Amino acid sequence: MRFGADYYPEHWPEERWETDARMMKEAGFNITRLAEFAWVKMEPREGEFDFDWLLRAINILNDHGIQSVIGTPTATPPAWLCINKPSVMRVNEQRQQITFGNRQQSCINQPEYLEACDHIIEALADAMDGNDGVYGWQIDNEFWAPCYCDECQKLFQKWLQEKYGTLQALEAAWGAIFWSQTYTDWRQIPLPWATSGAPNPSLALDYRRFISDSYESFTKRQIKLIRQYSDKPITHNFMGISPDEINYQQIADHLDFASWDNYPFGSADPAMIAAGHDITRGYLRKNFWMMEQMSGPGGWGEMSASPRPGRIREWTYQAIARGADAMIYFRWRVCRSGTEQYWHGILNHDGATNRRYSEIKRTRDELLKFEDLLEGTTVKAEVAFLNDYDSRFAFRYQKSNSELSYVKTLVSLYKGFFENNIAVDILTKDADLSGYKVVVAPAHFVLTKKRAALLKDYVQNGGTLVMTYRSAVKDATGLIFDEPLPGLLQDVFGVVVKEYHSPEASEENMIWGSMGEINGHTSRVNVWLDLLELRGAEVMAKYDGGFISYGVAITRNSFGKGKAYYIGTQPESDFMITLMDAVAKDAGVTLGIPTPQDVEACERVGEGKKLTFIINHTEQTQNVSIPEPCTNLITCEAIEKSLTIDAYGVAVLK
Ligand code: GLA
Ligand code: ZN
Repeated sequence: MRFGADYYPEHWPEERWETDARMMKEAGFNITRLAEFAWVKMEPREGEFDFDWLLRAINILNDHGIQSVIGTPTATPPAWLCINKPSVMRVNEQRQQITFGNRQQSCINQPEYLEACDHIIEALADAMDGNDGVYGWQIDNEFWAPCYCDECQKLFQKWLQEKYGTLQALEAAWGAIFWSQTYTDWRQIPLPWATSGAPNPSLALDYRRFISDSYESFTKRQIKLIRQYSDKPITHNFMGISPDEINYQQIADHLDFASWDNYPFGSADPAMIAAGHDITRGYLRKNFWMMEQMSGPGGWGEMSASPRPGRIREWTYQAIARGADAMIYFRWRVCRSGTEQYWHGILNHDGATNRRYSEIKRTRDELLKFEDLLEGTTVKAEVAFLNDYDSRFAFRYQKSNSELSYVKTLVSLYKGFFENNIAVDILTKDADLSGYKVVVAPAHFVLTKKRAALLKDYVQNGGTLVMTYRSAVKDATGLIFDEPLPGLLQDVFGVVVKEYHSPEASEENMIWGSMGEINGHTSRVNVWLDLLELRGAEVMAKYDGGFISYGVAITRNSFGKGKAYYIGTQPESDFMITLMDAVAKDAGVTLGIPTPQDVEACERVGEGKKLTFIINHTEQTQNVSIPEPCTNLITCEAIEKSLTIDAYGVAVLK
């Protein structure tokens, strides 16, 4: 396995590099990531390249057994480019051009920027050619930034013309007659700028697809240049479950492996972090890397709380348990200058060993004991969640309710499996679902005919489908279906939404369960209330009082050989966890080891191998009963029946 830190040799005098490499080696490091923001040091003036310093840094590291992932530096174009060719600068939603002074400040569609990127990438790839110290590549850094410049507008118009062919077709697809938004020339079509109010939602949805396509082209362009010189693995560092600016899947499709950056500030929910691992593993359906793992307090202006003793180790094991094959901490040493002067990593400004360094070294020493057992193992899940970017894009512009968040809805259902230690894959593109016992499609707001057919087939053939409120509302171009919801899937769920209600936060609405495990359970509900009319489904929960007294809230339907659950509202966490537990049991999902709340149990399996990770995400000591005698690979102790785990502690069982 790969273990190391993000390293910025350009921030430090060269005399220090040797010391850094030695200290890294002593902590068991064998990888760093370098150079992703060092454009100006590699090309101090247009066309004048200098990679000697980078080669010296790579060599020193390599002499200590540490290889490097090289980042293409395109997120920080230098002043000579940004100031001399101002057209390269990005334009924000307010139509203001962004000025030089931070990062990710360029438009990835501007020809002059693209040309400058080509030059630096090609020169960099050439300079790294055949270098043993280079492990592979990272494209740019944490893609997210949309652009609203005139060039993007022109390209968007072209993109639309290719997609729709005629203005009449576009008008029909968008319902552009509304507020006289019909166009007589492609050049009239705007971007979703912040004008006097919200844009046409169909236009906005297409814009997000267009920006995603633009980032995909940018990725492909970079990869093509690198591939002229190098066949080493290429990745990009994604940002976990939360971002919805662009479609990450489209980027991942072109990578050799996916990676992500995890910053669990303060009391970050362990389920959110777990979902970040699962979504990243899901892009390519294989193990991934942690490219940046928070390892110290961070912040640009204010500083976040320091990770408590044991937490860096806890996050490391959680990532590995969920399929990380590399752990790279952000960052080796906090810098003395610049916007991230406060963004600590392992070492403080003084560069001396400290508590965090010791914790990481200890973690590495432990991992080395059973590293070979991890080889060839991954997470195997019987439950899949569908992550749908079209829906996420549509919600960006129309939340439906001020409390509704796609990610919160997803994670509330996900927790039902997380708390029961049931492995989950989060999938972002259509896949063969037949291997999964349960498929969960949270708030699947936009539903294409193709996806609907896939889900229908899946249930027909014996699968269990779970869907929530605000699903199957919009078609592929963002128009709302003119049939009762859930539109294309009424027959699968055996219900129609008779009425819906977007509650105010202060409203008291309740449901009570009337079937199976949730029988007699009650919960407050919020975010959204669908009042269901039965067309063959059984009632699982009804509203009790409040606006929609005694209406049906949650149902289960038999369809073909399978079952379909419709969850018309958002219950509290306990209720949802019990409900998902019932769904999993009913579908015959293999249940995980029972553990106390926020103690995670997760398996990595491979040919004749099975490792069970137990991770205590709480501040208290916890006891876990073990189904069969085993060995704790960290302590080499034999465990008979039960295990005591310290606050933020971990055990790896074989
Ligand atoms: C991100 C970036 C890093 C760094 C950290 C901390 O994840 O990729 O370059 O800025 O945040 O701010
Ligand atoms: Zn632009």
